[in-house]
Amino acid sequence: MELSKFTSRFDAKAGIVQLMEDLGDAMSGDNEILMLGGGNPAHIPEVQQLLRERMQRIVDDPAGFAGVVGNYDSPQGESRFIAALARLLRKEYGWDIGPENIVLTAGSQAGFFYLFNMFAGEYPDGSKKQIMFPMTPEYIGYADVGLADNMFTGNRPEIELLDDHLFKYHVDFSKLRVTDDIGALCVSRPTNPTGNVLTDDEIRHLLAIAADKKIPLIIDNAYGLPFPHIIFTEASPVWSEQTILCLSLSKFGLPAARTGIILAPAEVIRMITSMNAVLNLALGSLGPALVLDLVASGEIIRISRDCIKPFYENKAGKAIALLKQELQGVDFRIHKPEGAIFLWLWLPGFPLSSEELYRRLKQRGVLVISGHHFFPGLTADWRHKHECIRITYSMTDAVVEKGIRIIADEIKSIYADKTPAPLKGEGGDGGVKFDIPPPP
Ligand SMILES: Cc1ncc(COP(=O)(O)O)c(C=O)c1O
Repeated sequence: MELSKFTSRFDAKAGIVQLMEDLGDAMSGDNEILMLGGGNPAHIPEVQQLLRERMQRIVDDPAGFAGVVGNYDSPQGESRFIAALARLLRKEYGWDIGPENIVLTAGSQAGFFYLFNMFAGEYPDGSKKQIMFPMTPEYIGYADVGLADNMFTGNRPEIELLDDHLFKYHVDFSKLRVTDDIGALCVSRPTNPTGNVLTDDEIRHLLAIAADKKIPLIIDNAYGLPFPHIIFTEASPVWSEQTILCLSLSKFGLPAARTGIILAPAEVIRMITSMNAVLNLALGSLGPALVLDLVASGEIIRISRDCIKPFYENKAGKAIALLKQELQGVDFRIHKPEGAIFLWLWLPGFPLSSEELYRRLKQRGVLVISGHHFFPGLTADWRHKHECIRITYSMTDAVVEKGIRIIADEIKSIYADKTPAPLKGEGGDGGVKFDIPPPP
């Protein structure tokens, strides 16, 4: 079938398509796949209990139920939820925001589609702009949402080697060139896939650059404060006229409700409201209905801080301890886990590409994500891109443990094999070209 260029942007080879198909296969049916590849949040018992209670109250109230399932909300999103969120953020952080600064989207993924295409692509004067990721690795879901060619540019990080097999990425400001063809900067904080949290200093520096260039700094706060608070270090949340802050209910425990939240200057909110009307008519009402009381009372902050954060911190600690134990004797590093729900494993000098490791692990029933998908806009070849994998630790302890043991076993057996399969060339198979050093 001959289809438009627009269609080709949704090519099945896109990393996010592979990820979501793997995730769907693993989460449905009763196959034995160990899903350490997706971004599905855990089903935390306390959060589940709260959501069930709230759902029950909605179901038990005929008028309330009819309102939730039987009415279109406005294209800005449910107004009581938006007003309650504005009040909460004013009270908690003193931010000067009102309902005119908030719009909902059908998941924050849809929000990035809007934002990136608003600030990059062709401008009315014919000039073309890009979204810059000041530091890759960055979220896999950004790479394919652009409607124009060449919409992204990404930068290499500085790598700080830490004790005990850890390392941390930093923005390399010495190499950051924000030219006039950059329409916006974007960072995820905490970062998916690495678990990095950009420091307050790094954010201040990026904001200063954005202010100087009169462009927004988009901060993807899907794992951040005040909810779901999957952040294990000190980091201040930021909002200013220069910032576009994206939140989501997904990692709070509601990925199925598809509720993204954008905080931005009123002019941006009006544009996104119109886009919602054109593309969706209205937003789903279920997410806002389920958390309205928690936002109005501020309880969402307490649950996030006292329940969700320790839950994931504990899981991160266990996953790292096991990975370190199982990988003894191998040259490996893990990004310092500062937030989000992933471990980012770096195998310096690994004899195969991370894509090949992904394939071998899939054959053994374990799904991870190959690191090379997480460098949107970084076109330069860099061996490091093919030396990392992302491992999700949000699934049950039994699944994470079993998966990590198989991952470590596969890595060790590849190192032990004196004649690893040669890397395939660049092409449809996603293989990579680089010289293979002798296995250590
Ligand atoms: C960093 C980041 N941003 C955005 C999203 C999209 O979230 P959603 O569309 O479920 O709100 C995800 C999902 O995993 C993510 O990890």
